[in-house]
Amino acid sequence: MSAQPQSLFAILPLRLVDLDAVLLIEQQAYSFPWTHGNFVDSLAAGYEAWALWEGRGQQSRLLGYFLALQGVDEMHLLNITVQPARQGQGLARLMLDELCARSRALGRTQVWLEVRQSNERARQVYQRYGFSEVGLRRAYYPAGPGKREDAILMSLNLAEAGT
Ligand SMILES: CC(C)(COP(=O)(O)OP(=O)(O)OC[C@H]1O[C@@H](n2cnc3c(N)ncnc32)[C@H](O)[C@@H]1OP(=O)(O)O)[C@@H](O)C(=O)NCCC(=O)NCCS
Repeated sequence: MSAQPQSLFAILPLRLVDLDAVLLIEQQAYSFPWTHGNFVDSLAAGYEAWALWEGRGQQSRLLGYFLALQGVDEMHLLNITVQPARQGQGLARLMLDELCARSRALGRTQVWLEVRQSNERARQVYQRYGFSEVGLRRAYYPAGPGKREDAILMSLNLAEAGT
């Protein structure tokens, strides 16, 4: 199934009052979720933080979110998550489009991200979007008691990308 017409969706600044809904999704989506404090700190630090909503007003539902850190020339995507029941419908693509549009508007030329080596699904989503795997960060993520997992470093050149 593909995403429904974009008019049903809105991408709005993530707010502190959204965090209960964000944490419900975060805890369903990851074995090692961000904490409430991680989101609060990110908002306080002024990171790019956006929420994807479906519907309007009281009927609206949070479907996903992304957070990114601005560098000098680049944007660093820290978290992008879609509610598990709504994955595979093009919603990450909608958020990546927004991230790229905002990055361009802010004069950034490159988007970077890290992804767990075992997260084949996310790696494929990013690759299909146009990201390239450009490096490895050893033992980057926690992976259970006494264990760490490598991260794949990926990047997208906004000057070359057709997004
Ligand atoms: C990774 C994640 C954000 C992708 O969100 P999504 O809404 O399912 O992705 P989309 O439906 O927008 O897919 C984007 C593209 O990847 C493709 N794709 C989606 N799921 C796929 C899968 N399981 N295998 C291969 N390709 C897939 C889609 O076909 C689409 O390609 P297209 O637009 O060229 O047709 C989502 O799966 C998620 O939240 N996962 C848990 C959290 C996570 O791992 N986040 C990333 C951390 S780095």
